[in-house]
Amino acid sequence: MPTPKEPDVDAARALLVPWFRANARALPWRQTRDPWAVWVSEVMLQQTRVDTVVPYYTRFLQRFPTVGALADAAEPDVLALWSGLGYYRRARLLHAGARAVVDRHGGAIPGDAKALRDLPGVGDYTAGAVGSIAFGLSVPLVDGNVERVLTRLHGLRGDPRAAPLKKRLWALAARYAEHAAPGDVNQSLMELGATVCAPTSPRCLVCPVRSLCVAAAEGDPARYPEKTAAAAPRDERWCALVARDGDRVWLVESDLGRWQGMLLTPLVEARDAPTWEAPMSAPRKVAKITHVLTHARMEVTVYEAHLTGAPPRGRLVARDELSSLAVPKITRSVLAAADGDAHPRRRR
Ligand code: ADE
Repeated sequence: MPTPKEPDVDAARALLVPWFRANARALPWRQTRDPWAVWVSEVMLQQTRVDTVVPYYTRFLQRFPTVGALADAAEPDVLALWSGLGYYRRARLLHAGARAVVDRHGGAIPGDAKALRDLPGVGDYTAGAVGSIAFGLSVPLVDGNVERVLTRLHGLRGDPRAAPLKKRLWALAARYAEHAAPGDVNQSLMELGATVCAPTSPRCLVCPVRSLCVAAAEGDPARYPEKTAAAAPRDERWCALVARDGDRVWLVESDLGRWQGMLLTPLVEARDAPTWEAPMSAPRKVAKITHVLTHARMEVTVYEAHLTGAPPRGRLVARDELSSLAVPKITRSVLAAADGDAHPRRRR
């Protein structure tokens, strides 16, 4: 079989853009070109599915309708609205980015690729998305979807996370973005990856660029991208404590990187029952749960005790306060397990 010819960027774009305009999902952030709304959506969409993002996006923009509103907010309020979305570092960086827009640019998000890229938390991807979608700048972006679409369409071999192909992909994406509507071009590549050019079973029959696609002509599109396997998540063992005072529970501000500043039940990495720094009845093992993160699989043994005096740090939180606080999923899972909601292996 002759090697299929690599497609012409103009020809591919001429099919992709009309396809995107006719088929784009009607997502809330597509109803606006407000750079603040675009920025928030693009940060939330990193590592998180569209369906999960929609309600968070709507609530976040209601509470922080402008970049200045977020800049004025206190971090715990920002984290509270992000609670459950995960990857909390994104929220902290968005907050820092908003403050930098106020400090450096008088509260107006700059319509300039370099100034965008210089904001805290704004990397090449976010600068490309905000620059092209909100400001119509010819700046490229590459995310996992674009990586998959372009490696297949152009038949690009190699690991897209390794420098040579990564560089080539950004250079190719930059050629795609040289267009009158770079936001639509960039979104067409992402949208195709999200809805048609799926990782394992691409829907080539409905693909607008099938006639140009090297991988489709070769007959095995799923072989692209040639990624080396990701490292398996680490197995970790943790102990969590649900210490009660009536119907309130003891939560502490976490100093663990992954939940910095958020409210957790006391949680330590340990195999055996640790000692806890508050006056309480003898802790009893009540459940075991598994909490899966990108790089770690946490097995958490949940202990329960009753406080007999004031804890030295942290705060006592009532059930109905939880929804307004910066409480990550793991805290909710630990509390649910102690309440017997998570099919615990052991109960009193
Ligand atoms: N994924 C992340 N941002 C996106 C966008 N703007 N369009 C399509 N898919 C996306």
